[in-house]
Amino acid sequence: MDFIGRHILSVDQFDRVGIERLFEVADRMAPYAHRGRITRVLEGAILGNMFFEPSTRTRVSFGCAFNLLGGEVRETTELKSSSLSKGESLYDTARVLSGYSDIIVMRHPEAGSVAEFATASRVPVINGGDGPNEHPSQALLDLYTIKKELAGRGRGIDGLRIAVVGDLKFGRAVHSLLKLLALFEDVSINLAAPPGLDAPPDILATLTQAGHTVSLHDQLNTGIHHVDIVYVTRTQEERFPTQEDADRYRGLFRLNQSVYTENCEPNTVIMHPLPRDSRAQANELDADLDQNPNLAIFRQTDNGVLIRMALFALILDVADEVDDHARPVTWYTAKRIPSVRRR
Ligand code: CP
Repeated sequence: MDFIGRHILSVDQFDRVGIERLFEVADRMAPYAHRGRITRVLEGAILGNMFFEPSTRTRVSFGCAFNLLGGEVRETTELKSSSLSKGESLYDTARVLSGYSDIIVMRHPEAGSVAEFATASRVPVINGGDGPNEHPSQALLDLYTIKKELAGRGRGIDGLRIAVVGDLKFGRAVHSLLKLLALFEDVSINLAAPPGLDAPPDILATLTQAGHTVSLHDQLNTGIHHVDIVYVTRTQEERFPTQEDADRYRGLFRLNQSVYTENCEPNTVIMHPLPRDSRAQANELDADLDQNPNLAIFRQTDNGVLIRMALFALILDVADEVDDHARPVTWYTAKRIPSVRRR
């Protein structure tokens, strides 16, 4: 696939060659993300980081990734602080903002909104999450994390056994991840969701058409046996018609150390796109797993910077020039080696 000048709106755009290219460039970003070196390859470039829905890691890591490549970041962080709240259309917003930026990342609460925005944009647009639809960069960093976690075991993504658990109806990160897994061979997928929060039928069809083994579970415990990865998701309460509807699902699926020990194979990797809901009534991924060396959630967030740097470098066609603009770091740096798996 060709990255140069392209929008990234859906994982449907990706093929395995494109994913391998992205991961190869992401690997080369590590010295910069870990503050061993700095590069100014995007000096003078401007990222429009437009987040019309709450975000911590996607917004900040896209911004950091652009800064780490030497570019500048301009942000909007709320619908109410943009002129969308005065009735301005996505078309007009895109025409305006794309005159100020070299590339735009956008998050918006409505499915399809980022694609609509992109049709009017004069610069490439990356989907930072459009309602319950897709979250491509999250799925790409998740897949990269899965690859790295399994590499230590001499395994690849082909032949993966994964459980995806929680809110599979509204979870855009899992929608994108499951679609990406359809590009691989012989994947076994347990989908475990409370009744009513099942994965969309079109995604199930994509997985079965890819020849994958898919088994459906309505209990957490039965869904997490015999897998390499347990991928937990939060109940996306903000997507329910009312809080009362959401409350019916609070706390139904909770992974903690004792559930893990009783049901998972030793060394099953635990992932979550974050944020996890740490309120006592929800708590789908308990803090008593924080010392479990197989908890990969902060390795995921670290990997997000590498993947987002790689996306910018490829789309703006500087992937092979990053090192030409490099120099050593001259200030004190804390060791930013990735969150290490301790055994
Ligand atoms: N994973 C994710 O999208 O997190 P944020 O909502 O904090 O960006």
